[in-house]
Amino acid sequence: MNDYQALYRRSLADPAGFWGDAATALHWDKPWDTVLDLDAKPVPRWFAGGELNTCYNAVDRHVEMGRGNQAALIYDSPVTGQKQTYTYAELRDAVARFAGTLRAQGVGRGDRVLIYLPMIPEAAIAMLASARLGAVHSVVFGGFAANELATRINDAKPKVIVSASCGIEPNRVVVYKPLLDEAIAGATHKPEACIIKARPQAEAALMEGRDLDWDSAMAEAQPAACVAVKATDPLYILYTSGTTGQPKGVVRDNGGHAVALHWTMKNIYNVEAGDVYWAASDVGWVVGHSYIVYAPLLAGCTTILYEGKPVGTPDPGAFWRVISEHRVKVLFTAPTAFRAIKKEDPEGEYLQKYDLSGMQTLFLAGERCDPDTLFWAREKLGMPVVDHWWQTETGWAIAANPMGIQPMEIKPGSPTVAMPGYDVRILSDQGDELADGQMGNIVIKLPLPPACLPTLWGNDQRFIDSYLSKYPGYYLTGDAGYRDADGYLWIMSRTDDVINVAGHRLSTGAIEEVLAGHQDVAECAVMGVADDMKGQLPLGLVVLKAGASRDERELQSELVQRVRDQIGPVAAFKLVATVKRLPKTRSGKILRGTMVKIADSEEYKMPATIDDPSILDEIAEALRTLGYAKG
Ligand code: COA
Ligand code: AMP
Repeated sequence: MNDYQALYRRSLADPAGFWGDAATALHWDKPWDTVLDLDAKPVPRWFAGGELNTCYNAVDRHVEMGRGNQAALIYDSPVTGQKQTYTYAELRDAVARFAGTLRAQGVGRGDRVLIYLPMIPEAAIAMLASARLGAVHSVVFGGFAANELATRINDAKPKVIVSASCGIEPNRVVVYKPLLDEAIAGATHKPEACIIKARPQAEAALMEGRDLDWDSAMAEAQPAACVAVKATDPLYILYTSGTTGQPKGVVRDNGGHAVALHWTMKNIYNVEAGDVYWAASDVGWVVGHSYIVYAPLLAGCTTILYEGKPVGTPDPGAFWRVISEHRVKVLFTAPTAFRAIKKEDPEGEYLQKYDLSGMQTLFLAGERCDPDTLFWAREKLGMPVVDHWWQTETGWAIAANPMGIQPMEIKPGSPTVAMPGYDVRILSDQGDELADGQMGNIVIKLPLPPACLPTLWGNDQRFIDSYLSKYPGYYLTGDAGYRDADGYLWIMSRTDDVINVAGHRLSTGAIEEVLAGHQDVAECAVMGVADDMKGQLPLGLVVLKAGASRDERELQSELVQRVRDQIGPVAAFKLVATVKRLPKTRSGKILRGTMVKIADSEEYKMPATIDDPSILDEIAEALRTLGYAKG
């Protein structure tokens, strides 16, 4: 059907028919009893009673259908100079063997496997091996510090942790093993075993009785077969930032996830089995889970696992090199990557060196796509540039331009229209539905489509409180925006303390908790201020305790280091200043929104409830010392 409107209407009027049809593309060990179980709590569940194995569908199925010799995964690592291709048959063998390695450590259905790995093939292999056994993986991004890793270990309680000796950033080797050891030492839960991939760039000391070497363990392992699990069983937990220091463990189930992700490949991205698909992200983020590992493999595509950056590895032509060398048809990345390329190569000179004729579309997501970036990419690449909007919680696009159904007019700044299954509404703070063009809270009327989170790991109540309570019957996205008269969605900002730094989701509340823990800090406020390259940067203002007198520079570097040590370098926290007081309402609420406007030199209204307006001049002064509030 080449009619988006008709398809979308059907998905809402007959969700069971729509997704039931989509599910027939996969292999089921046992058919579902009901496509959509509306009685399930806390939210309706997809494919209840059905059984399948996600790894079987992503890997073995293609070998059995004759794609064994096709490239499944291409590892391309400019930071090490390595390239390696796994065919579907080779990937199946490696995954089966690593599943055997995990099983030998006692991992079975429902057990958790925590994966703390850089962008090497072993990351995808470990994820798929966990899925093969019906275990639940939880991947932790390498840019997080030991403390964040410990929080996730305590929450997920993994039986086994899979890690490596190091990751490689362009400016340094990041040794992982000491971080892992520190995290385990600090965690209350202890894994039974750790399996460590040794890389030549750093050695890892193995702890007798607990740690195993990946290569030796693999050499001894017996391949393990796929274990059928319930469609509603969890496939993975992925932690994401909420409003506090305690991250939210987003749960993804097996059945709905496989069905929805498989559906997106043809209908949104317009790729088919055999096409080369590249998501330039990291397996530590949802984009990496969905579009480096699961969706391209479920669809029988070739996926690229790229260990490098858009610039500096070695130059701003890095993406073009990969696209031409591997005949990439679709690239998916964050706008910030294009801003980085544009900054170093504004005229697009590096593009002239490569043949991009095999590429069809560029997809962007992860943060708001500013029209300038979209125009630049479109002009230089000479192809459609599609912005699409989604979240860790949904696992796939809420709004997109359905390139495989009916490509629609692109309106720069809008991620286009709601995707099938997402009944998107815009509500006022009071819960009234708003007219076209009016800005409000973006919500999704329940039920959510397949692949969206059914709960938070071990915490139904937090799931209900965070997403379902504010507007009963609706899922709260946490984003604000509007719908225009043509039905296009415009996603403008967050309504909570989440900020987006270089496409990475961070909690200002978590950074505030770290700053507040410093011995000299009485109170603080962290906010996201505009940055030309990263979209937003966290900026902190701290008030010192009475009697504390500190050298500003020295205190700044202590606070910056504290965030780096406790959250990680990925927080990119470098802007902090002391102030005498913070602006508050009479009821004591810190006026972060007003401070952001001052920092970004935007017009603002003096809040009627402000306690003492003269504080804002002091704030502007402090912001100017950090290079903000200039206008
Ligand atoms: N392991 C350890 N450290 C990491 C890391 C990892 N996997 N990833 C990032 N870091 C570190 C970086 O080395 C940097 O440290 P530094 O402060 O010592 O320089 C810090 O975390 C911030 O990293 P990053 O935000 O990536 O900034 P950058 O300046 O190194 O690079 C971009 C900027 C735009 C090139 C980069 O952010 C990028 O490629 N973004 C693409 C967006 C993306 O992948 N988004 C994911 C969702 S689609
Ligand atoms: P994450 O869970 O890390 O994927 O971050 C999700 C959040 O990033 C969303 O709730 C939005 O605030 C923002 N986001 C992602 N994609 C877009 C987009 N295309 N346009 C605007 N905001 C986006």
